[in-house]
Amino acid sequence: MAQILDGKALAKKIKEQVAAEAASLPRRPGLAVILVGENPASQVYVRGKEKDCEECGILNLGCKIPAETSEEELLRIIAEMNADPAVDGILVQLPLPKHIDEGKVLRAISPAKDVDCFHPENVGEMMVGDPICWPCTPFGVMELLREYGISAAGKHCVVLGRSNIVGKPMTLLLLRDNGTVTVCHSRTPDLKEQCLKADILVAAVGKVNLVTADMVKEGAVVIDVAMNRNEAGKLCGDVDYVAVAEKASYITPVPGGVGPMTRAVLMRNVLAAAKDHQK
Ligand code: GUN
Repeated sequence: MAQILDGKALAKKIKEQVAAEAASLPRRPGLAVILVGENPASQVYVRGKEKDCEECGILNLGCKIPAETSEEELLRIIAEMNADPAVDGILVQLPLPKHIDEGKVLRAISPAKDVDCFHPENVGEMMVGDPICWPCTPFGVMELLREYGISAAGKHCVVLGRSNIVGKPMTLLLLRDNGTVTVCHSRTPDLKEQCLKADILVAAVGKVNLVTADMVKEGAVVIDVAMNRNEAGKLCGDVDYVAVAEKASYITPVPGGVGPMTRAVLMRNVLAAAKDHQK
């Protein structure tokens, strides 16, 4: 039976550390979360981030603007926050309404305030070395592995999903930790065979029961990044948790695994950006 990787507990610890360090800075760090429209999932995520800011002593300098806001107006707000010395981090919650060009918006955020690490300049920094911030979800996964003494070194890691937010940066971080990494996606023909090779399996697709017990090697570490609802409306990931937990050595629950870690390391990114700005 697998040991649970308790993201909730570690997230609490990280947020306490961030709060202590933030309190010792000459100026309180500030985060601007920008929510465009009323996507229900995004509203939940943004409320979570507001609560985290409060717990960590980080100023919440964000705004919520209507779905009809023009791209021009959003770019103007970002320019204003780029110029505001009280703002250390800017996060535009995705997805954006269809009439707004996501690439253009992410490129408008000052790289020094890009706590998501989505700006192409920071994506490039990540490829070649050490950016100030790391993309929150993969960074949270690595911190969780580290807490439990799990290293990717010498291991075969399989990442399911190739998104810019999770799959691609997850691959880089596992590689940086000396893992041998395979990336699988919707066009991978032999998904089961690939998964069976994994010592560390990271699922980030968004498909209920994508990973079943017959796809998991005995003793594998299984990380479930996804946040889905099953037919009964219950929150679940990509992994058939009960059956896979019988075979895995470690597993993340959904909820309580990767989700809280993503939020906690965002606070750490804001602190890192603030420290860099106050140097
Ligand atoms: N929407 C879902 N995940 C994320 C994330 O990590 N950052 C932003 N900005 N939006 C998201």
